[in-house]
Amino acid sequence: MKKPTLVNHPPDVAPPPGNQPVIAPIYQSVKFEFESIDDTLRMLRGETPGYFYMRASNPTTRQLEQTLAQLQGRDDCLATASGVNAIAQTLLSLTKSGDHILCFIETYGPTRNIIRRLLARFGVEYTMVSIEDLAGVENVLASRPTRLVIFESPTNPATKVADIERLTELAHRHGALAVMDNTFAGFHQHGEYDVDVFMHSLTKYASGTGDVMGGAVIARQELIDGMRPDFAVLGALLDPHAAFLIQRGLKTYFVRYSAQTANAQKIAEFLAGHPAVARCHYPGLATHPQAALARKQMKEPGTVVSFDLRDGSEAARRFSESLELFALTASLGSTESLVMPPQLVGTRDFTPEQAKASGVTASTVRLSIGLEDVDDLIADISQALG
Ligand SMILES: Cc1ncc(COP(=O)(O)O)c(C=O)c1O
Repeated sequence: MKKPTLVNHPPDVAPPPGNQPVIAPIYQSVKFEFESIDDTLRMLRGETPGYFYMRASNPTTRQLEQTLAQLQGRDDCLATASGVNAIAQTLLSLTKSGDHILCFIETYGPTRNIIRRLLARFGVEYTMVSIEDLAGVENVLASRPTRLVIFESPTNPATKVADIERLTELAHRHGALAVMDNTFAGFHQHGEYDVDVFMHSLTKYASGTGDVMGGAVIARQELIDGMRPDFAVLGALLDPHAAFLIQRGLKTYFVRYSAQTANAQKIAEFLAGHPAVARCHYPGLATHPQAALARKQMKEPGTVVSFDLRDGSEAARRFSESLELFALTASLGSTESLVMPPQLVGTRDFTPEQAKASGVTASTVRLSIGLEDVDDLIADISQALG
């Protein structure tokens, strides 16, 4: 073998049988080969297990998919390049021209965009009501055939709690799928409810470190099998290196979520009692309008705390810019604390009535609480409020 050949066919150094790495390796390979065409064809027909081309599947990504499916309590998972990609591909895959979707004013902004702009171009219609308006949900579902109901809980940023039991029951009674973006609550919550498809941004709690993007769609086998061919041709399967980083992050997922939630609870209580704060939104507060529902549905109320300042949007700007330990940026769920001022919250597409129903005001600030010492975080919030 001459050297240009050698560098393209390097020595195989797989550990011998019985000698396994403790951490699974990153299969950073686009292509996987069999010795024969017949073996390749058997695998491609689904008769034998295996891999062929990374756009369809990869062992490292597959390990993450199987872990997430088990965490959320469903059969299978598709891991994607980002959270919004998981949402866009799911909606594209589950709908066709003429279908109708029920979504909510409180739905995450980019999801509203996918429904109102992208899907509308393909003839998919939608109706939008408030997540608190269960009578409205029932009216819409009774008045026209609906392919799916898509919702979140707690909502972003007002932390409203959706009644998952009622929503899924209403959706199913009217022949619609219940599709839930469960990013805020995480993989260990809501699995016992009759949700057909869970979607997550893995960019948030899964890795926890804020240095990698990913998304996941988790559902029963028949739904995943129906979506998988569409996902493969749309071409946004999660890269194995990102899958490895997210799998590594999951090792500390449970302790991070609980510790960050404990910090968030203390910060919410501090904010709720502060004279500069008109209202604090956090499902773990006894004053939350759906506190009982939150206690029933959630093991842990999460790490996002929002609040309205008495003095309006300029005060919210000064507050956000005065914080020292909170990065002024998007995202949530990572170990460092973040602040999202009202000027950066995307509600510009709302009518005045929708803006009112959203629960988001010109002085609503969203905090994502991290793993720092909670006394330091409260001292920082206190000085910024001052
Ligand atoms: C509720 C929710 N869903 C989906 C996403 C999108 O995730 P990604 O940023 O990974 O595309 C986000 C991001 O903030 C989110 O908050």
